[in-house]
Amino acid sequence: MGRLEDKYALITGGTSGIGFETAREFLAEGAAVAITGRSRERLEEAARRLGGRVLPVLSDAGDVPGQAALAARLRQEWPRLDVVMSNAADVTHLPIEQWTEEAFERLVATNLKGPFFLIKALLPLLSRQASVILVGSVSAFIGHENAAVYGAAKAGMLSLSRGLTYELKERGVRVNGLSPGPTLTDAFASLGPERQAAIYDELRRTVPLHRIGTATELAKAAVYLASDESAYTAGTILRVDGGIGELAY
Ligand SMILES: NC(=O)c1ccc[n+]([C@@H]2O[C@H](COP(=O)([O-])OP(=O)(O)OC[C@H]3O[C@@H](n4cnc5c(N)ncnc54)[C@H](OP(=O)(O)O)[C@@H]3O)[C@@H](O)[C@H]2O)c1
Repeated sequence: MGRLEDKYALITGGTSGIGFETAREFLAEGAAVAITGRSRERLEEAARRLGGRVLPVLSDAGDVPGQAALAARLRQEWPRLDVVMSNAADVTHLPIEQWTEEAFERLVATNLKGPFFLIKALLPLLSRQASVILVGSVSAFIGHENAAVYGAAKAGMLSLSRGLTYELKERGVRVNGLSPGPTLTDAFASLGPERQAAIYDELRRTVPLHRIGTATELAKAAVYLASDESAYTAGTILRVDGGIGELAY
C-alpha cells in the first residue's frame, strides 16, 4: 500500500524539475495527480512521461481569476482534494535598476497572490485532513545576487504557511512550507550553460554540504508533508537546502 493511496493531489508547475519529480513520487505512492503548466505541449509530454493517473491542466499560476477556473475544473473531475502543492514560480532575478513595475507585479502575482487565491478557490474541495505544501526558497532567508524581489515574495509565501494553518485549523487543514536550496532543475536554464555552470560551481563552494540538491530529494520531502506521516506537522517550514539557509560555511 502506497503512502498516498486514495489521495487526490494537485501540483502547480508539474512539467519539469521539482514539480515533475514530485508528481512521479506521488503517483508511485498511489495518489491521483493533477499537474499544471503554461504550455499544452509541455503538459502533454509530462503526462505521457509520467503515465498513471495524471490530469494535466493548462493554468498560469500568475493569472488570479484563472485560479478559480482551475479549482472549478478539479471539482468537475474529482470528489475532493487531499494535497495541494503550490510549486510554480517566476524565478526572475534582476538588479534593482532593471526591475519594472510590470515585472515586479508579474512575479508577485505568480509567487504569492495567485497561490493565495488558488487556496481560497480550492477551500470547498479540500478534505478534512488536507495538506497544503507551499514551495518557498532559501532566498527567503538569505540575501544573494539579484534575488531581492524573488526572496521577498518567497518569504511572503512561506509566511502563509503560518497564517493559513491558523486560519484553517478548525477544518483540520495543515499548511507547511517546503524550502529548497540550490537544486538541479531547469530553473536557471535561461541563463545559458556557461553562466549556469559558474553559478553551480559557486554554490557547490558555499552550500555547507558542498553539493547541489536533486529534484528527487525535494520530492521525497513533499511525500512526507503530503502523507499522514506528517499529520502533526503544521505551520512549519521544512528546509531541504544542504544547510545553506541555516549554517555558515
Ligand atoms: N531549482 C532551484 O535551485 C530552486 C531553489 C529554490 C527554490 N526553488 C523553487 O522550486 C520550485 C520549482 O522550481 P524548479 O527548480 O523545479 O523549476 P523548473 O524546473 O523551471 O520548473 C518550474 C515549473 O513551474 C512551471 N511554471 C513556471 N511558471 C509558471 C506559471 N506562471 N504558471 C504555471 N506553471 C508555471 C513550469 O512549467 P511551464 O514552463 O511548462 O509552464 C515548470 O513545470 C519553484 O517554486 C522555485 O522557486 C527552486
